[in-house]
Amino acid sequence: SNKRLANTTCSHCNGKKSCELGLSGFRTPDPCVGTFKYLQTNFTCLEASMSPTCMGRVIAIYGADYGRRDRTTCSYRRAPHGLKNITCLQPTDLVAQMCNGKFSCSVAASNAVFTDPCIGTYKYLEVSYACKCK
Ligand SMILES: *[C@@H]1O[C@H](CO)[C@@H](O)[C@H](O)[C@H]1NC(C)=O
Ligand SMILES: *[C@@H]1O[C@H](CO)[C@@H](O)[C@H](O)[C@H]1NC(C)=O
Repeated sequence: SNKRLANTTCSHCNGKKSCELGLSGFRTPDPCVGTFKYLQTNFTCLEASMSPTCMGRVIAIYGADYGRRDRTTCSYRRAPHGLKNITCLQPTDLVAQMCNGKFSCSVAASNAVFTDPCIGTYKYLEVSYACKCK
């Protein structure tokens, strides 16, 4: 799931607070015929919380990672030393456990929730999810 998550992280999302990617392979005329309409990727910065939301359908988490894999995401007004480790990876099942099957859910991107995978690095939570029929 970590590999799949990385595949969805294309460069146009870098540095943005959140972004949405349409995956043509998953797109169908009726979102309930194929399971997924869009695969969404969201980032949230440390001490913020992220809230995947599905209207009328339920959340299916593909993968989540708490750490840092590039220098631009969640980098606004951050000191360079906190951005330099881009191999700070901590794939986590916690978001799936908390969110799968729900219409919406909220997860704090904090060390208190995920534990600190690399002290001194400014981390973010990256979540890849889709909305699917119940
Ligand atoms: C990403 O999260 C933000 C904050 O919770 C939310 O406003 C935005 O709609 C989300 N984007 C996607 C694609 O889910
Ligand atoms: C980044 O952090 C991870 C986790 O603490 C560590 O294993 C790795 O050596 C660090 N990499 C660099 C380049 O500092």
